[in-house]
Amino acid sequence: MSSTPHTQTEMNPQARPEPILDIQNLITEIRVPGRSLRPVEIERLVVPRGQVVGIVGESGSGKSMTAYSILNLFPTAAARIHSGSILLDGVDMVTARENERVRIRGDKVGMVFQDYAMSFNPVISIGKQLMEQLLTHGRHENAKAKVLSVLNEVGLSAEVFSRYPHELSGGMLQRVGIASALVCDPPLIVADEPTTALDVTVQAQILELLKRIQQERNLSILLITHDLGIVAEICDLVYVMYVGQIVEHGTVHKIFKSPAHPYTQGLLQGASSVQSVGTHEIRVAIQGSIPGLTEIPSGCRFHDRCPYTMDICRTQEPGFYEVNGLQAACWLHDPEHSHG
Ligand SMILES: Nc1ncnc2c1ncn2[C@@H]1O[C@H](COP(=O)(O)OP(=O)(O)OP(=O)(O)O)[C@@H](O)[C@H]1O
Ligand code: SF4
Ligand SMILES: [Mg+2]
Repeated sequence: MSSTPHTQTEMNPQARPEPILDIQNLITEIRVPGRSLRPVEIERLVVPRGQVVGIVGESGSGKSMTAYSILNLFPTAAARIHSGSILLDGVDMVTARENERVRIRGDKVGMVFQDYAMSFNPVISIGKQLMEQLLTHGRHENAKAKVLSVLNEVGLSAEVFSRYPHELSGGMLQRVGIASALVCDPPLIVADEPTTALDVTVQAQILELLKRIQQERNLSILLITHDLGIVAEICDLVYVMYVGQIVEHGTVHKIFKSPAHPYTQGLLQGASSVQSVGTHEIRVAIQGSIPGLTEIPSGCRFHDRCPYTMDICRTQEPGFYEVNGLQAACWLHDPEHSHG
């Protein structure tokens, strides 16, 4: 076991060569009266080409705000990127001009949302909406044939082209959501809780579909979920997020085998107790609840819930340490402080 402090930047062999997504020193802010909150503070997050990377964490940990930051498109005018860089196939979404961002959203990254029903205009047919996306991106040639082909790819018949959103089931709509993300052939898909709103059988089908398409297209996927069962099933790498920060990352195999961060350990304990009753929902076996952005604890943000808190945890933020091939931000892995 190595216990040397490293920055995430130094320690990410997956970062080479040219990851499809490379986030560095990202701070996202939400302006509320009298102050600015920071839902995302990510030092480094990398999605290598052709891999499926998970972001996992409790509700409120900043997963969706991270997804919106990647698109540089927020559901609220109060949110914006404060600083940092988000390299998407080499182009920085933070400094790119708005017309270039519009091109990149679609050509370079497709987004699949949890609320698929909200993603569609109720009075325009599915086919027209998908064709509109192609036309916006300058793909006029064979647009209808392309839409029919991508509908077929996600397991929908040609007849769906002329249907309206309210005529489709939740599972079918989420297939359309995936078709919409794929229609401009981006190399990266960001999927935010793509199966959470669906019932269990349909969840499994949508997950199978994502896996198949990922392999057939050699796609990169950033999969945001609170469900560790999904991470185990589909992801190669995983980032664990807590109150806006990454606290641990590494291969799924290593994280599940021996997680190094107490927060990850708690998530996994919760997962195993619930998986035994046959549901994909995780229950977090960690005391207390995640703090809001106005009450972020000093030092290690997890210190008031951690079973191993030491004095230093309350005042100083830990850096990353390599532990058996994982990167964990925890003082337990610092040889000078590991005995409290
Ligand atoms: N419009 C907003 N105004 C103020 N705070 C917000 C706003 N949107 C999100 N937040 C806060 O930002 C933090 C991160 O929220 P986010 O939605 O990214 O979490 P999440 O990990 O996606 O949670 P979930 O699993 O519930 O989807 C939370 O503390 C949330 O309360
Ligand atoms: S730094 Fe301290 S409080 Fe934070 S997870 Fe590690 S032991 Fe727990
Ligand atoms: Mg979310």
